[in-house]
Amino acid sequence: MEQHRSHNPNPSHQNRPSAYKREREDNGRNHCENKHSRPNRPQNQSGPSRGQNPHSSLSLSTRRELYERDFPVYKQPVEVGCFSLDSERRFFNDGRQMRYYVEPDRSPNFDLRDGYKDRFIKRDDSVKEKLDHMLRWILANRSKLSARGTTASSCDLDIDFVTWRGHLTKLLTAPYETREGWQLAVTRFRGTLYISEVETEAARRDQENRTERHEEMMYWGYKFEQYTCADTVHGRPDPGGVLNTNEAFCTVVQTRLADHRLLFSGEVDCRDKDPNAPAAPACYIELKTSAEICTPKQRSNFHRFKLLKWWAQSFLPGVPRVVAGFRDEEGVVVALEIFPISKISHLIKNEPNCWKPTVCMNFCSDFLSFVKHIATEDNPSVVYLLSWEPRRDVTSPSTGTRRTASCHTGLWRR
Ligand code: A3P
Ligand code: MG
Repeated sequence: MEQHRSHNPNPSHQNRPSAYKREREDNGRNHCENKHSRPNRPQNQSGPSRGQNPHSSLSLSTRRELYERDFPVYKQPVEVGCFSLDSERRFFNDGRQMRYYVEPDRSPNFDLRDGYKDRFIKRDDSVKEKLDHMLRWILANRSKLSARGTTASSCDLDIDFVTWRGHLTKLLTAPYETREGWQLAVTRFRGTLYISEVETEAARRDQENRTERHEEMMYWGYKFEQYTCADTVHGRPDPGGVLNTNEAFCTVVQTRLADHRLLFSGEVDCRDKDPNAPAAPACYIELKTSAEICTPKQRSNFHRFKLLKWWAQSFLPGVPRVVAGFRDEEGVVVALEIFPISKISHLIKNEPNCWKPTVCMNFCSDFLSFVKHIATEDNPSVVYLLSWEPRRDVTSPSTGTRRTASCHTGLWRR
């Protein structure tokens, strides 16, 4: 992981082509004068044609070749806190839902179908929580985040972006994503940009039309967690218990990507129970399941698609390893493998046409610059929407839209 975090004292990106462009010079706001814009950013010559969205003032390309440059500075993430959500999805400003990884002592043979549906309480995913839990955490931990500078108001956070790790994962993987688009909502409030997600129409349809097999397979990943995690440091997993996906332990980390100071939270599956394990987030373990790999084609797909998602999700918060359970067609885990996140880029090195960590991180960095550029009005009632569909540019179709009904920073106003 360290190899990707080395500070680059003379970044070569200062003179390369920009991935974002001004589509219209006369849209009433001179974006180039924005204090966040970088120097030497010529227009992108190879973006999509105009007319794709005649009202957009700016767009950002996701084309991979635009982001193949030196790895940007990504500071080692520091855990600044954590929170828990209980079986009824209630927030607690502590780590009560932390779980401990228990290595299986023999060949796993975990039946992931066990308990579906009789011992399964599924979180209601029609409830859109937006940034609420993160905002609760910030309200309870303000003193850890207050601005240190003399010019800023004491209410200001010393942070450019607040978001969920999952949203950043989508940004990292966008240059390689060919199926699912996204829509992000951004609000600038007291100098900090809050990024939340708005469900796309396609995602809503997919969710409504999930097959029973798909519903069951979504359970399998959680079931694997139940087979490998204990609630206490000396406890044992209880695969006979009820599985409730409302429960969660979330880490809150602070880091910096290029010149963007980030605060984000992500769910953590479990931690190393060794008392001598390094401090969080280095003691955390991500658990994953995947179909067993039997052919070279399956291995190649695993490298190209699965490992990209696994890497992005864990690299962001500094979680150093994934424990993977490989399952057969019947949902039985037949093998376990540990994937250190720092080794994943080596694993995929010989895969032709594969993803590159630097493309992911540079796209994310440029996207955040783009957001700073677009979301200029500091007002909790103003939500800027940024939409993206595969093979298109990121666009901001309704810059400055006021969405009074669903302001995603609503908690602040309580
Ligand atoms: P797997 O990733 O092992 O399939 P996470 O690994 O991110 O902690 O998520 C735990 C499990 O939630 C996943 O385990 C999967 O079962 C389910 N899950 C999460 N996001 C999902 C999604 N977008 N689609 C389907 N299943 C999902
Ligand atoms: Mg997991």
